[in-house]
Amino acid sequence: MKVTIVGAGAVGASCAEYVAIKNFASEVVLLDIKEGYAEGKAMDLMQTASLNGFDTKITGSTNDYSKTANSDIAVITSGIPRKPGMTREELIGINAGIVKEVSSNLIKHSPNVTLIVVSNPMDTMTYLVHKTTGLPKNKIIGMGGALDSARFKYRLSEALDCPASDVDGMVIGGHSDTGMVPLTRLATRNSVPVKAFISEERLNQVAEDTKVGGATLTKLLGTSAWYAPGAAVSGLVQAIACDQKKMFPCSALLEGEYGLNDICIGVPVILGKDGLEKIVELKLDDAELAKMKDSAEGVKKTNGLLDV
Ligand code: NAI
Repeated sequence: MKVTIVGAGAVGASCAEYVAIKNFASEVVLLDIKEGYAEGKAMDLMQTASLNGFDTKITGSTNDYSKTANSDIAVITSGIPRKPGMTREELIGINAGIVKEVSSNLIKHSPNVTLIVVSNPMDTMTYLVHKTTGLPKNKIIGMGGALDSARFKYRLSEALDCPASDVDGMVIGGHSDTGMVPLTRLATRNSVPVKAFISEERLNQVAEDTKVGGATLTKLLGTSAWYAPGAAVSGLVQAIACDQKKMFPCSALLEGEYGLNDICIGVPVILGKDGLEKIVELKLDDAELAKMKDSAEGVKKTNGLLDV
């Protein structure tokens, strides 16, 4: 199993580290446009192999796509991250050009690759890859909801004063501060609805804290986060590589599901060896469907800025 990660920056390197530690891939290629950078990150990570006990071979390349040939899965994290006070949508001008070029280069060398798009604004970048590459829809997956759901579970565990592994919850919709739809009604603690444990007011606060999860970290760190994003991407890579048939909310091209068309937005999907194998249609109530519709309008507005 060969995995390529384009963009050896904070998120790309964190993803490479988690993929290696989980020890399911034979090879990880890190590629970056900055001279020597991916090679350096790869060497540093390889020097953790004996410490962390993995066999995955990590190599680096400065923009030489021949090194990525015949990748099964490729992750696109190349592009600029946001700075404090910026929205993800403001990154579109620079990142659209990068994502278009990178996806085309990847496919030239790995025509059967499954692409995971991470660069922001992620839903719009995923849509751009659909519009410009001609890859089948099951082979293009946007990562956002897996991270937002992990942040939701973190906030729920904080509110309930219990381990995050005791709670379950999902965030669907657009991967933006205003577009996320944390499904509070369906969130559970050891299979019991969380509404049994906390007030509606506290639960609404959890949802609001989740939506600004990325912005909160960007303010603290001066740039966007990387540990949880890297871990979330590695979960998607593993589900595909190991044919886990696991459900994650991911940005998927919708053709009528949830009443939406011609848009990539976060919905639950099953990931396995064929990439995005199925879109799961949850039974949402009217309020949730209305939030999803609003969220889709926001994503479509950003898509309108693309030159496709
Ligand atoms: P970073 O600045 O640390 O790394 C980005 C890397 O991309 C840099 O090393 C840069 O040299 C490289 N790069 C730029 N143009 C390139 C090109 N044409 N070819 C190859 N490499 C190129 O940024 P970070 O923090 O890793 O974030 C990367 C992207 O991921 C940002 O757009 C950020 O907003 C997004 N992100 C998305 C998340 C999500 O949930 N979807 C979560 C966190 C970040």
